[in-house]
Amino acid sequence: MNSSLALDAQKAGQRVGLTSDEIVINGGTPLIGRIRVRGAKNLATKAMVAALLGDTPSLLKDVPEISDVQVVRGLLEVYGVRVMSPSVGELRFDTTNVETAHFAEIDAHAGASRIPILFCGPLLHRTGEALIPDLGGCRIGDRPINFHLDALRAFGAVVDKGHEGIRLTAPNGLTGANIELPYPSVGATEQVLLTAVRAKGTTELKNAAIEPEIMDLIAILQKMGAIISVEPNRVILIEGVDRLIGYTHRALFDRNEVASWAAAAIVTHGDIFVEGARQAELMTFLNVYRKVGGAFDVQEDGIRFWHPGGVLNPVTIETDVHPGFMTDWQQPLIVALTQAHGTSIVHETVYENRFGFTEDLNEMGADIVVHKSGLPDHPRRVARRDFEQAAIITGPTKLHGADIRVPDLRGGFSHLIAALSAEGQSKFINVGIISRGYEHIIEKLATLGANFEYEG
Ligand code: EPU
Repeated sequence: MNSSLALDAQKAGQRVGLTSDEIVINGGTPLIGRIRVRGAKNLATKAMVAALLGDTPSLLKDVPEISDVQVVRGLLEVYGVRVMSPSVGELRFDTTNVETAHFAEIDAHAGASRIPILFCGPLLHRTGEALIPDLGGCRIGDRPINFHLDALRAFGAVVDKGHEGIRLTAPNGLTGANIELPYPSVGATEQVLLTAVRAKGTTELKNAAIEPEIMDLIAILQKMGAIISVEPNRVILIEGVDRLIGYTHRALFDRNEVASWAAAAIVTHGDIFVEGARQAELMTFLNVYRKVGGAFDVQEDGIRFWHPGGVLNPVTIETDVHPGFMTDWQQPLIVALTQAHGTSIVHETVYENRFGFTEDLNEMGADIVVHKSGLPDHPRRVARRDFEQAAIITGPTKLHGADIRVPDLRGGFSHLIAALSAEGQSKFINVGIISRGYEHIIEKLATLGANFEYEG
């Protein structure tokens, strides 16, 4: 079993006759209490890659105990980085002996993760070679990483595709470039930043993503010696430098985890104080939360979220890049919208296919209709993509327990909170996926008084 889940189970003290990847939820108990969120999955993993660029050790604080962090740690060790944990939630990276690795080793550690792609720039600078193993299926097809490869080619990298995967080299070194992303992709923006900081000359990146996690990565790179300016209209200028040193940094809190627990509070008629949550990076989410009918109180050390009683309201929202409503927030919010009085519409514009989880919600009694080509009669505010999907959620509907195979990280969390609010019992399998991005999920559920059975 996944080690962080095992740790959770031990701490939560739950012992019943289930396999290690299953959980039984008895619905109907409000989640009440205080939990803490640590650093963001989507920053910590990138900060770990950035450590490769420094020729002195780096220290990252508030690192969450999640399996995605373990994956990146394993990969760094494959490249010769010594990773130590001086205390709980801290990782120290010694990059004195960075070396190349083989496809098989990288593949063995990367699993289903796309993170090896972000190692390209730092590895080309440090070792002159980067390998992206063929992770199978369509994940390594040109399309999902085309922005990354095009950007790396613009810096002067040579990309060779072979049967084991993709090999990148930089025979003439990497040189600053003018790059315009077709879409403000988070990963491609990080790719450009991690490559441009040590390239020769200046890089101008247009149509960059400007998520708070990207700003935190820029802060880390600045601590390391980089010169990066964020200009208006999604333009980022990076002046390459010859040398970067290690950093000491406390990771930005996990906005997606906060939004998830906030949704859990209204879905279960609960009251959850999320220590570590900050308002500034959550403004868009908080506006929608308030419109739906959730209550929140911003305090110095966190944000309290609760269901104030009364009915919940339907909303129409569309997911977008920052400062829009994040795609990762729509899944837990949709569970709340199944309890709103009226019809809500959620447009998903970031990913082609992120409503699959609604099928299981319908099994539980929800009324959600997904329109795979969007709704032509409801034009979106931001027409950024060629594709769009829309979910129409009609509420309120009584939810009841069901047997669920957790499909993915955010979908899985949504099923979990739906089950916590539902009448009767739900049994989940494949629950380990949730620990990819939610730290100590079992322990937190126990802290909040959830009624569940779990054996680690
Ligand atoms: N895209 C391409 N080609 C590329 C790169 C992206 O077509 O080369 C497309 C994607 O297919 C997608 C869109 O561009 O339709 C946006 O993808 P983006 O690159 O912005 O996403 P990402 O970097 O792969 C990160 C987070 C996601 C989060 C998105 C959007 C990490 C590890 N992942 O993904 O987080 O949803 O940004 O904010 O940082 C999650 O935490 O559950 C999660 C999926």
